[in-house]
Amino acid sequence: MSSLPFGLAGIMGWPVAHSRSPAIHNHWIRKYGLNGAYVQLPVAPGKLALAVPGLAALGFRGCNITIPHKVDAMQLVDEVDIMAKRMGAMNTIVVQPDGSLKGFNNDGFGYIQSLIDAQPDWRADAGPITVLGAGGAARAVVLSLADRGAKEIRLLNRTFDKAEALANEFGVPVKALPWEERHAALADVALLVNTTSQGMHGQPDLDLNLDALPKHALVSDVIYVPLETPLLAAARKRGNPTVNGLGMLLNQARPAFHAWFGVMPEITEELKQALIATF
Ligand code: ATR
Repeated sequence: MSSLPFGLAGIMGWPVAHSRSPAIHNHWIRKYGLNGAYVQLPVAPGKLALAVPGLAALGFRGCNITIPHKVDAMQLVDEVDIMAKRMGAMNTIVVQPDGSLKGFNNDGFGYIQSLIDAQPDWRADAGPITVLGAGGAARAVVLSLADRGAKEIRLLNRTFDKAEALANEFGVPVKALPWEERHAALADVALLVNTTSQGMHGQPDLDLNLDALPKHALVSDVIYVPLETPLLAAARKRGNPTVNGLGMLLNQARPAFHAWFGVMPEITEELKQALIATF
């Protein structure tokens, strides 16, 4: 047994069995020789208000928060970080030294870092950006791109009202366009992002014609099962650089692990392969 103090963290959601977070964090706990565990915390809707305040008493350093609790958990912590407030959702709780709870959202950090990992000289202001979808993932993507200095973000969603609401909320660089214009909205872009569920395992392919997309544009999908969505495969075949959703998943986990266990963990090929083996 290690003499280091035992550290406990987990993933709170409903369901949580499909989550890859335990595989990621337990890999890092082993790799850095820490004494601890990252466990599943299946908390049914309606039980969240009982579960969250119990974290400190149970000795947890904190936890991740996933569907369906990302919004409701914000009311149950003592403090919410500014980024999570702006995103309107939380994905991480950190138990503070005094036992109080602070909520964070690292999804935007994870997304931007996944682009930089793929293209170290990537810049948000390299050209117009087209984002498809206006759900929770889109909020993190659009907000983080705007914060990084994006000058024009074309936002297209099947339900136009949701794209318009996001554009109104996030302001100047974000412009909502009708879903029917998604093919034409690829002209001149430096980055195309899919945040819809289309192309995910078990879902139909995204209906998108890439003809107008410049060949140098970076194409990114927040989906990681499959690792290469039909969109990314089509983009790769015509010569576009691509980024899959695994990088966002792995990079959002790093600051949380650091806050709980005191080590900023690395994303290695070994970790990627271990995760891919679980898909
Ligand atoms: P997440 O948190 O992963 O973003 P979500 O909030 O459920 O998940 O959002 C799913 C996104 O996929 C939404 O933008 C949704 O569009 P609607 O707002 O119109 O529902 C999009 N989506 C789901 N099914 C789609 C389809 N068949 N065609 C196009 N977009 C679709």
